[in-house]
Amino acid sequence: MKIINVGNYQELSERAAKIVIETVQNKPNAVLGLATGSTPIGLYNELIDDHAKNGTSYRKICTFNLDEYVGLEGSHPQSYLYFMRQHLFNHIDISPENTFIPNGKAEDMMKECERYEELIKEKGGIDLQILGIGQNGHIGFNEPGTSFSSRTHIIQLTESTRKANSRFFSSMDEVPTHAVTVGIQTIMESRKILLLVSGQAKMEAFKRLLSDEIDESFPASVLKLHNDVTVITDIAFDN
Ligand code: GLP
Repeated sequence: MKIINVGNYQELSERAAKIVIETVQNKPNAVLGLATGSTPIGLYNELIDDHAKNGTSYRKICTFNLDEYVGLEGSHPQSYLYFMRQHLFNHIDISPENTFIPNGKAEDMMKECERYEELIKEKGGIDLQILGIGQNGHIGFNEPGTSFSSRTHIIQLTESTRKANSRFFSSMDEVPTHAVTVGIQTIMESRKILLLVSGQAKMEAFKRLLSDEIDESFPASVLKLHNDVTVITDIAFDN
């Protein structure tokens, strides 16, 4: 893992945007893996600014989001589809038919998981996967204990994740109990991975990521087995 330590969140967002923009410029039909959560919002703002100022085009870019809550309509303000439209898609020239997010309202969720995996393959796999990290080390919604060989699947969210994400909902009861997420194996097949770690709340997770541990009880630790991972963090650490 290559670790880039920056002074603050703004710098983290700019460094991350530089990597995404380079990918898009070098391969105008690249397949990007996108993440939600508060961490990548600054990155998305940078991409929107760059698109407006420099005209970087996403016309042929295809995106796959990592995850979605089960049971939320895309029109629900806390759905990840809504999030992506609001924070990125509505502000760049990407074609809506090239943006993919698992459907959390599919009638047959098992089939939906298979369909999503097939689609990723059909589009040639992920060139650059953007990741955030949960306080418990989850990536996407792959909670601790998820098999490193997992593919897109349904997962029951841990109470700690529901609690962490309840800040976006009006009450804890409204936070969905399940999510659909691409699997760890799926993430590991991405050609390049960019992990963003921001804020003191992620300190423990970051320390664990820097340790020698590679174990399913800490999902992000799998990234140490990938040959092209860049971590950008605004957490001060000694290396
Ligand atoms: C969410 C998402 C993850 C995200 C993580 C951290 O639950 N499913 O993809 O990386 O939690 O979110 P945040 O960036 O808001 O801390």
